[in-house]
Amino acid sequence: MNLYDVYPLFDINIVKGKGCHVWDDKGQEYLDLYGGHAVISIGHAHPHYVEMISNQVAQLGFYSNSVINKLQQEVANRLGEQSGYDDYQLFLINSGAEANENALKLASFYNGRTRILSVEKAFHGRTSLAVEVTHNPKIIAPINANGHVTYLPINDLPAWEKELAKGDVCAVIIECIQGVGGIRLVTPEFMQGLRAACDKYNTVLICDEIQCGYGRSGKFFAHQHTGIRPDIITMAKGIGNGFPMGGVLISPKFTPEYGQLGTTFGGNHLACSAAIAVLDVIKQDKLVENAAKVGAYLLDELKKFPQIKEVRGQGLMIGMEFEQPIKDIRRKLLFEQKVFTGVSGTNVIRLLPPLCLSMEEAKEFLKRFKETLS
Ligand SMILES: Cc1ncc(COP(=O)(O)O)c(C=O)c1O
Repeated sequence: MNLYDVYPLFDINIVKGKGCHVWDDKGQEYLDLYGGHAVISIGHAHPHYVEMISNQVAQLGFYSNSVINKLQQEVANRLGEQSGYDDYQLFLINSGAEANENALKLASFYNGRTRILSVEKAFHGRTSLAVEVTHNPKIIAPINANGHVTYLPINDLPAWEKELAKGDVCAVIIECIQGVGGIRLVTPEFMQGLRAACDKYNTVLICDEIQCGYGRSGKFFAHQHTGIRPDIITMAKGIGNGFPMGGVLISPKFTPEYGQLGTTFGGNHLACSAAIAVLDVIKQDKLVENAAKVGAYLLDELKKFPQIKEVRGQGLMIGMEFEQPIKDIRRKLLFEQKVFTGVSGTNVIRLLPPLCLSMEEAKEFLKRFKETLS
């Protein structure tokens, strides 16, 4: 049987990882400034993570959501404490798209409305509503194009206030640092104005923190740079360091009812032990602080490269926009300098390394990047 061929692949077979490095099947080492697409938060094969998951699978890999799973409450307690959202409620699922589906569904249950505002260039996933709020007609199938969504420019508060004033908007969904959209940041003034307008018109504010959250921006959540609290926060990627997991943080103004949401695999024992290990390491190794420090250094240094048109980002979520397509630069980085990076569109290189990237590794990346551009 063939695989359904939807991914353009590099001819590299990665078989091993440790910290911020991965190795292919020929023993070649690579510096990982991509983190498997912002997924690896605490680094590859962290010993505590390996131990926690190994012990759990030997004990109990899975049982259903019809019985008590104390690990879920432990994730909630720890996440509440570390993120500053102790008063919120947690619903666990398996992926980012699923987190956004549930967030949008909750918003619609809450105010009975069906209209959504989303940002130009936004990416929120590939399923039903998650893809409909994604601003890319190429991946919205006719069955997903149901006219729920208006896309508006980032940071243009009057445009958002005008739509919200119509009084029929169910939810706003927004990435405080757009990932796929090319590392574009909201301003605090915009988010504060948006928060006020959402309150005024009873619209639910959803922050998609699937890529920019979980410490990546140098704060636990990227919206925490803007001084607002969303009604719903969606998470995935870094939460399980590669173990498939997603989460929805839900403000106390939402009241749960039996059967309102549900999932077979969400919050299973293995996923929860992965999440607890990740939270342990984030706290013990001060990875949020590390992302802020090493990210600020990288941003400063990258801004000195005359070849780059613009450097944008916060913490370890960095975009470098070039005048010309970056395909060749990225290939050189990978095949000659042995560095994994990401892209956005044709002209932006994205850096999404594990949050444990050290200053030495950042310097090593800059050295290899300089070689590539010379
Ligand atoms: C901001 C954002 N939201 C949602 C998603 C979808 O997550 P998943 O691929 O886990 O469904 C992604 C994935 O890249 C993302 O970057």
